[in-house]
Amino acid sequence: MVAHIDKLVPPGEGVVSRSVFVDDEIFQQEVRQIFSRAWLFVGHESLIPKPDDYFVSRMGTDPVIVTRDRQGAIHVFLNSCTHRGMKLCRADHGNSRAFTCPYHGWSFSTDGKLVERPGELVGVPGFATHYKSDLNKKDWGLKRVAKFYNYKGTLWGTWDENAPDFLEYLGDMHHYLDAALDCRDGRPGGSVVIGGVQKWRVRCNWKFGPENFIGDMYHDVSHRSVDLIGIGPSGGKGRRDPLTGRMTIGFKDLGHGGIGRLPYYDEGEYQPLYQQHPDVERYYRELHEKRVQNLGDRMRVSHSVGTIFPSMSFHGRQPRTIAVFHPISSTEMEMWRMYLVDEDAPEEVNEAARHYYLRYSGPGGMTESDDMENWTGATEASIGEQARTMFFNYQMGLGHARPVPGLNGAVENGEYTEENARIYYARWAQFMKGLSWQDLMPSRAEGVESR
Ligand code: FES
Ligand SMILES: [Fe+2]
Repeated sequence: MVAHIDKLVPPGEGVVSRSVFVDDEIFQQEVRQIFSRAWLFVGHESLIPKPDDYFVSRMGTDPVIVTRDRQGAIHVFLNSCTHRGMKLCRADHGNSRAFTCPYHGWSFSTDGKLVERPGELVGVPGFATHYKSDLNKKDWGLKRVAKFYNYKGTLWGTWDENAPDFLEYLGDMHHYLDAALDCRDGRPGGSVVIGGVQKWRVRCNWKFGPENFIGDMYHDVSHRSVDLIGIGPSGGKGRRDPLTGRMTIGFKDLGHGGIGRLPYYDEGEYQPLYQQHPDVERYYRELHEKRVQNLGDRMRVSHSVGTIFPSMSFHGRQPRTIAVFHPISSTEMEMWRMYLVDEDAPEEVNEAARHYYLRYSGPGGMTESDDMENWTGATEASIGEQARTMFFNYQMGLGHARPVPGLNGAVENGEYTEENARIYYARWAQFMKGLSWQDLMPSRAEGVESR
């Protein structure tokens, strides 16, 4: 297996076999080796604000239910009845104290007053008569994730009880994720999803998304039409307003990375955002002033685009969204987008943001459409018998990475580089080889705290 993976991603060469993007057996191995072990993003807590709220999500190819119990705790269960496998919850979201299976009527409860363990089997039709009370209900509760973590409202789970803690898994990449999740005035956390979740299928391998968002500045040319007309917040030319001083920063030991700035810098003058909406513009200017007050002249990263290995990406500012790439088959993924705003932002601000987000992202977003066309085209043209024997090239800037002082395990390689894609596929290879967590988290083996 190890030799096989080294043939797919030859170490240090900056190339990746095209079969990694089209082969069904490799896809099955990914589901087993990566999606059964890694921390996966399952949703945002603002989607389930009230007790008994739930929504359905995915972890790899498994459907899951994410629900908040009556006591306020959040749980993630496999969305499959333990009797004979029926999908328990067929609505996308709702509110329910118990989940009752439509097939034979078994029911499962999350109410901590009723059950010791949330997800326990509580109702079995004919328990006394047909089963003669001879079934240990405690053994047949819903399967639940081994570990769960709520990071500033984003919900994460893993099926692997040996996985490291989420914060260790995230490492110093948190600085960049924070750019999407913290309030615009610098308060930690406090972002919420507006408008629910957009979900759609794309006929491409799932890795094209995270690979793109981890740091592909080079593909700017494919957004030329959007850049010519201008869809940014201010209405000026381009798909976003000018952002300066960006570089790609990747976390070699973790497989995460993004485009942004170093964590602390002087943000300088306020850059107007929504000149066409004076009220909205005033709001953002005031937020900026509060931000300077709160954080001083050592500002935190305020814009970034990045990927948390393996399948979650985010935009930190323009727009401000979360993207998830669910694997469906080797040549199909289900893409999700959630759009973030500050929890206390006024309605007109959210409305202006919502319009921009939808111009940019989602199935009808003008920028996302360009990307999807590239990903589907690359998948389609790599399936053929000749094409699949070839390799993709990721050699830009190979050998020119430099460590980033102050960021644990990070390297940067300028603005235009394929360093982060190399980091991503090196991590992919480690997981696919089935390395133990001890080997996957070297900082842990050395007893070094990663943050
Ligand atoms: S499959 Fe759910 S009760 Fe039988
Ligand atoms: Fe793009």
